[in-house]
Amino acid sequence: MNSTVHDADSEEERDSIPESPMMRVAILISGRGTNLHAILKSRQDGSLPHADIRVVICNDPSAAGIDVAKEFGIPVRVVDHKEFKGDRSGHDAAIARVLRAEDIELVVLAGYMRLLTAGFVDEFAGRMINIHPSLLPAFPGVRAQRQALLQRVRIAGCTVHFVTQAMDGGPIISQRSVPVLLNDDEDSLGRRILMEEHRALPQAIDLFTRNRIRLIGGHVSIRPGDSSFPDLEKDIGPMTPLILATGNMDKVQEIRAILSDTPLHLFTTASFPGYAEPKESGETYLENARIKASYWARITGLWSLADDSGIEVEALGGRPGVFSARYAPTSRERIAKMLEELRDVPVEKRRARFVAVAVLRSPDGEEYSAKGTCDGQIAFARCGENGFGYDPIFIPDGYGRTHLAELPDDVKNSISHRGRALEQLKDVLRKLA
Ligand code: GRF
Repeated sequence: MNSTVHDADSEEERDSIPESPMMRVAILISGRGTNLHAILKSRQDGSLPHADIRVVICNDPSAAGIDVAKEFGIPVRVVDHKEFKGDRSGHDAAIARVLRAEDIELVVLAGYMRLLTAGFVDEFAGRMINIHPSLLPAFPGVRAQRQALLQRVRIAGCTVHFVTQAMDGGPIISQRSVPVLLNDDEDSLGRRILMEEHRALPQAIDLFTRNRIRLIGGHVSIRPGDSSFPDLEKDIGPMTPLILATGNMDKVQEIRAILSDTPLHLFTTASFPGYAEPKESGETYLENARIKASYWARITGLWSLADDSGIEVEALGGRPGVFSARYAPTSRERIAKMLEELRDVPVEKRRARFVAVAVLRSPDGEEYSAKGTCDGQIAFARCGENGFGYDPIFIPDGYGRTHLAELPDDVKNSISHRGRALEQLKDVLRKLA
């Protein structure tokens, strides 16, 4: 979802922010270190290419986060606050010495639970960021999730901001939202927010270490994107949540790509771990899509988007159709079974059609639906690694002998049954935002 990015004081100031090769980063923690884990995992996966994470500093020798740092081979310095009783400045000064010794250019507070003294904040002004589990300026301070629940807000979230003297009050870099459910407690809401924290904080670090953001004149300045980072504005832009009512991560990935030009913050059902998927007991694509969309809209109180799809093979009298996902237990077995059933069917009798029906549904029952199809034929063997489901054995019309799983994602999405169905809903989706 969502972020606030302030304009630069002037175009010149913004454009004068230089490119960064590698930036020296320190991470301060106090507790379990799940944000630290998300950062180090991002670094390991290659999505923080400009962050040189030099040290993790912890004020509590018993913090579980210390083991997280060790697991990733990052040096840990414990600066135990209990050894500085009543001397907050002395504790901060000891931390500052570590940061200076390492020549740290970015300090990340990732669940650092101590108030910092003015001198420390001043020394690292403009190069220290914090993550907070609320949509600031709402609910600063402790137990932000509880505050949100007590205020009965519908949308909660997290904020990454520059650290200034004002507690949880510095200029905002980015925010991500989560829906609040009626039966949420502090834990369930906290877990949902944490999932978004784990995306927001590494992304903010990436922005800073790429020299894409700076604190200039008390405001966050963002350097315009380049082709190496095309998704930034989109990723931190949209506020309006939409639930993708499917637990199928392949589908989620595809739908995210298809809807990337709609200003919505897409959640998946993985954000709501306490709820089972509904039983798809319908006899048509529309019924099944409606079951899924209305179930998740009711649970979350948000607009929900579901699709149901299948492949209809002429030589099999239209089977497996609405039962395509249940034709055999795994994707490989489904393909093998279909190739076997069609073993002696000649090329001209292998016509088939992918069908998808998408349903968009509001919590109070307003509904839009659309159907998309993709015609082609079933191949004699699998080919291609893209896509999922029956894509490797489907040859769409108009692309020679190319299998659907061989087409690049954007081409597939422009002709696929799901792409065509969702395309028809985009006008409505854009109006939700
Ligand atoms: C997070 O909720 C963060 O927003 C807050 O402290 C918590 C730290 O969690 N500042 P973890 O130690 O990263 O798991």
